[in-house]
Amino acid sequence: MTILLAGGAGFIGPNLARRLAAAGHELLVVDNFSRGLRANLPDSVPCIEMDLSHTGCVAALESALKGRGVDEIWHLAANSDIPAGVEDANVDLRDTFMTTFHLLQLSKRIGVCRFMFASSSAVYGDWGSQRIAETLGPLMPISNYGAMKLASEAQISAAAEGFLERASIFRFPNVVGTPATHGVLLDFVRKLKQDMSRLEVLGDGTQQKAYLHVSDLVDAMLFATARQTTVRDVLNIGPVDDGVTVRWIAEQVCARVSPQATIAYGQGNKGWVGDVPRFRYAVDKLHALGWQPTMDSRAAVLRSIDEIATQEQV
Ligand SMILES: NC(=O)c1ccc[n+]([C@@H]2O[C@H](COP(=O)([O-])OP(=O)(O)OC[C@H]3O[C@@H](n4cnc5c(N)ncnc54)[C@H](O)[C@@H]3O)[C@@H](O)[C@H]2O)c1
Repeated sequence: MTILLAGGAGFIGPNLARRLAAAGHELLVVDNFSRGLRANLPDSVPCIEMDLSHTGCVAALESALKGRGVDEIWHLAANSDIPAGVEDANVDLRDTFMTTFHLLQLSKRIGVCRFMFASSSAVYGDWGSQRIAETLGPLMPISNYGAMKLASEAQISAAAEGFLERASIFRFPNVVGTPATHGVLLDFVRKLKQDMSRLEVLGDGTQQKAYLHVSDLVDAMLFATARQTTVRDVLNIGPVDDGVTVRWIAEQVCARVSPQATIAYGQGNKGWVGDVPRFRYAVDKLHALGWQPTMDSRAAVLRSIDEIATQEQV
């Protein structure tokens, strides 16, 4: 099977690429390297540098494929800087939505059958301590990132009526591991690397979220796609627990990287505008399929702190 992996040179992409390549699939990664790196991918995986938000990318990709068919598109390209998108709505319109729009145009032009989409818990908005299942609504995102993920989901759903045979929408929690390109763990490790005496935390540290290790995330997606029987599917992917607090994460990062550091907390329970301070995920649908993660939030975070500290050479 030939698979186009969009945004495949970032954090999750290379982990997925390795699993797909090991299963014998032919891969083509497309990335503009705004955050991703060629070096994150094995040399054996072909990679095209292209901005998928540009209108011309559809024709350019069609010509790069030279008539070769694509069976599946896995769409991982997006803006990963939520505050940047709150500051300037163009960022998520461009990198989170237009990339989806163009990849769907390409799918129609060249006859792609299956479309897998990396969506996010951010589509739900802030539901406080209510457990969030796939059936919950109305969905009212509180960031432009969440809004453009939701708009992308809607566009993919419509495409499944028109020309796609299968559409799989995966709503990720916070995903951790390497090669880390963004996120709270990388942020803390890099801050400590700059100043080993002090760690500044955005917000009061009470934010509580579920974390999944990238190896479990990739495993869950492959498990679920192999069992999908409907034309469209929306699936929460996450651990079973209710997550860990930012305060606990800050303490663990300090313990690993700089035990003598003092931790300075900010005000309020949001790290930034658009931050959902607490979400409780319902993953019953995924469990009913027969999938379980190998790590809970605590184990995933502890393993990833170690992996990221090694990546950052601290
Ligand atoms: N990491 C998480 O915790 C998390 C949580 C929820 C959803 N997601 C989603 O999963 C996907 C992958 O996440 P990630 O953590 O690997 O992010 P990432 O930023 O590391 O990877 C995204 C990749 O997309 C590329 N990209 C961005 N804009 C592009 C454009 N216009 N054209 C071509 N390439 C472009 C970047 O260079 C990068 O390599 C994203 O869609 C993200 O929104 C991630």
